[in-house]
Amino acid sequence: MFLGKISLLNFKNHENLALNFNKKINCIIGNNGVGKTNLLDAIYYLCLTKSYFNQVDQQNILFKKDFFRLEGSFKKQGESFELVYKLPANKRKELIINETPLTKLSDHIGNFPAIIISPDDGQLITGSSEERRRFIDNTISQVNHEYLNQLILYNKVLAQRNAALKRFAETRSVDRVLIESYDQQIINAGIKIYEARKIAIQKLYPAFQSFYRQLSFEREAVGFTYQSQLNETPFDELLKKSFDRDLMLQRTDVGIHKDDIEFFITPALKPQAEDSSSVLKSPLGDLAVGVKLKKFGSQGQQKSFIIAIKFAQYSFIKNPERKPLVLIDDIFDKLDNDRSQKLVELLAGNDFGQVFITDTDDGHIREVLKGEEKLFEVFKV
Ligand SMILES: Nc1ncnc2c1ncn2[C@@H]1O[C@H](COP(=O)(O)OP(=O)(O)OP(=O)(O)O)[C@@H](O)[C@H]1O
Ligand SMILES: [Mg+2]
Repeated sequence: MFLGKISLLNFKNHENLALNFNKKINCIIGNNGVGKTNLLDAIYYLCLTKSYFNQVDQQNILFKKDFFRLEGSFKKQGESFELVYKLPANKRKELIINETPLTKLSDHIGNFPAIIISPDDGQLITGSSEERRRFIDNTISQVNHEYLNQLILYNKVLAQRNAALKRFAETRSVDRVLIESYDQQIINAGIKIYEARKIAIQKLYPAFQSFYRQLSFEREAVGFTYQSQLNETPFDELLKKSFDRDLMLQRTDVGIHKDDIEFFITPALKPQAEDSSSVLKSPLGDLAVGVKLKKFGSQGQQKSFIIAIKFAQYSFIKNPERKPLVLIDDIFDKLDNDRSQKLVELLAGNDFGQVFITDTDDGHIREVLKGEEKLFEVFKV
């Protein structure tokens, strides 16, 4: 799968921009503020129906204009797909594929898969658990439509349950039948989400380890574990036990909306393979002895972690028919020369398909890709 052509009309700072892309590596070069990140974001938008950076759709319209329009020409297994997004000011966006409007945007998720790595992704490590749930949800949704449906349902019923808890507090009365019907739906959807997350995290783990080892030359080891209240206690029991507390708090305090993924690092490890792999090997067990990545990982180590986990996401989403697009904003951000070189080597290899990267200058990338000129093209924005 690849994106052959893109055109942006009034999308963020791009009034009118059209480009034909290379099938392998596309380097988007330009000074600060010219719109490199915005161009990557437009590609992300085509694939995933929204901006990675600005969730408020209307703010993606060029200032003072009253619409934006994005067009992309994809090729997938020999078939052509013309995607058009239109967003008029103060209206809902529309997606048209090969001249047919799509009625449900969420159906598009996963059909044109993509992963993105940006300097803002530090949030995945330092931000709240919501960031990490968003990551795992985005990962699974791109391969499993039903997961996204269950997640939407879970969040809807959870909001209804919370509203009911508020009402009960105000009216000082409790409708147990209503709560039970909410609980049934929450439990049904919640268990499916929990199982899917558990499996996804197990699958991500070996790929993550392999990418991290390559990127870090085994100078340190890392790991992560899935934290869920459902790991220890069945969901129905959790809800029952928590009911009085939920009433007092006026919100549901247990469930998969509290899940988290903990990131670990064992810094300054001897660079021996057996040592590093024996320390952190189980994604679900309690073998992870390390220290918190957020506190003790250096900036480059944290960045390497992000790249490894996103590449694992890539491997998870990839299938023999289609390789997700890879978007990397500010490609050499925080990486030393060894890691930069390894990163580009990985991207240039056969595991990866079409790649889009940005930098302020093409010197570094040309140097790293010396001898591989056929693989890449440079676009000045
Ligand atoms: N809706 C909008 N209308 C007009 N301009 C916008 C809109 N949204 C963002 N911008 C502007 O687009 C400009 C380019 O942003 P972008 O982040 O893409 O630059 P960049 O090339 O990635 O720069 P850097 O090298 O600093 O990362 C910014 O000045 C930003 O304010
Ligand atoms: Mg940028």
